[in-house]
Amino acid sequence: MEKPVVAQRGPYGVKVEAGKSYFWCACGRSKTQPFCDGSHKGTGLAPVMFKAEKTEELWFCGCKATATKPFCDGSHNRL
Ligand code: FES
Ligand code: FES
Repeated sequence: MEKPVVAQRGPYGVKVEAGKSYFWCACGRSKTQPFCDGSHKGTGLAPVMFKAEKTEELWFCGCKATATKPFCDGSHNRL
């Protein structure tokens, strides 16, 4: 399994919609950050699904080092 790459050293703020599912890019290779575009193929990594319960702005991890996937936990400050 390959290691995730850093897409951005900070989170992406995204307004999610209640009832919608999102696939967070765990590998860092997607061109449509912070979400998966299929570029993880062959890395052994896979996206993390998140279903929004309400419409709100959330902070998705861009560095891919978070321990609270798919959200930023501040780990990007230690990279
Ligand atoms: Fe990854 Fe904050 S962007 S922990
Ligand atoms: Fe990164 Fe799919 S492109 S997990």
